[in-house]
Amino acid sequence: MPKHFLSLADIDASELRIILDEARRIKSARVGRPKGHVDKDAPFSGETLALIFEKSSTRTRFSFDMAMRQLGGSAITATHSDMQLGRGESVEDTAKVLSRFVDGIMLRANRHETLTTLARHSAVPVINGLTDYNHPCQIMADLQTLEERGGDLSDMTLTWVGDGNNVAVSFINGAAKLGYKLRMSTPPDYAVQGQVIEVARSEGAKIDLITDPLTACENTDVVIADTFVSMGHEDADKRLSDFTGYQVNEAVMKAAAKGAIFLHCLPAHRGQEVSAAVIDGPQSAVFDEAENRLHAQKAIIRWCFKV
Ligand code: CP
Ligand code: NVA
Repeated sequence: MPKHFLSLADIDASELRIILDEARRIKSARVGRPKGHVDKDAPFSGETLALIFEKSSTRTRFSFDMAMRQLGGSAITATHSDMQLGRGESVEDTAKVLSRFVDGIMLRANRHETLTTLARHSAVPVINGLTDYNHPCQIMADLQTLEERGGDLSDMTLTWVGDGNNVAVSFINGAAKLGYKLRMSTPPDYAVQGQVIEVARSEGAKIDLITDPLTACENTDVVIADTFVSMGHEDADKRLSDFTGYQVNEAVMKAAAKGAIFLHCLPAHRGQEVSAAVIDGPQSAVFDEAENRLHAQKAIIRWCFKV
């Protein structure tokens, strides 16, 4: 059975700890090294990761490709419309064929079910590069960013402001494993769907639901925002109106603890979910967070392929 990385909910806390520690080690081992140079140990020399995208991507695409280059291997990138997948070839057959060519597959999928089907039929590890349901690689980079700023996750309170979307689901999954407290501030009609919160709570996650963003952010250590209109949402105008009052701005950051960190997975929409003063201000960690996609994913790839 290959080791897939599909959801933080499926992976033991001790394994996630190994990945986070490895990500920090990998990052510090490269300080001062040119971006395109291969890591000294070149652990994936001769190995290839397929990168398949059903939706747009900047960070995920470039960070996975650079990760494979730095690990000594290579990546092949395709959109589903470049592939027979886009003309109706089944996900099952695609998984079986790609397994004969490459050593691992990263998929960004419109529907989470496409990812789980691919993983079920793949003989090589499959990594989730975002679906409509979750975005686990992102949260590993986010937690790395918090830890490198001196945070002990088990002492931290993180507050999510906005849509109960795919990124939010992975923060909830992570809370059950890594011990941070989580507050969710979403408009009532945009809460995280299904049993995600109940399941996380049953595994020990401390999650509070607080509708009002200013109340939710009181004394929090971390404020997190994401777009109000994710890829695949077709009701942009309604959403932008329904999320009035959920912008992370100076007033929200003022309610948070002194020195609170602002995170956003990017791409951001200044003036919508976040003010320019916050995302471009001193409390924002968004570009470290983006850079850490590279380091965290190298640790994820190592975990999937080798450990
Ligand atoms: N945060 C993130 O996944 O960015 P991309 O959509 O650019 O990959
Ligand atoms: N929630 C956003 C994240 C983008 C990285 C989306 O799915 O579009």
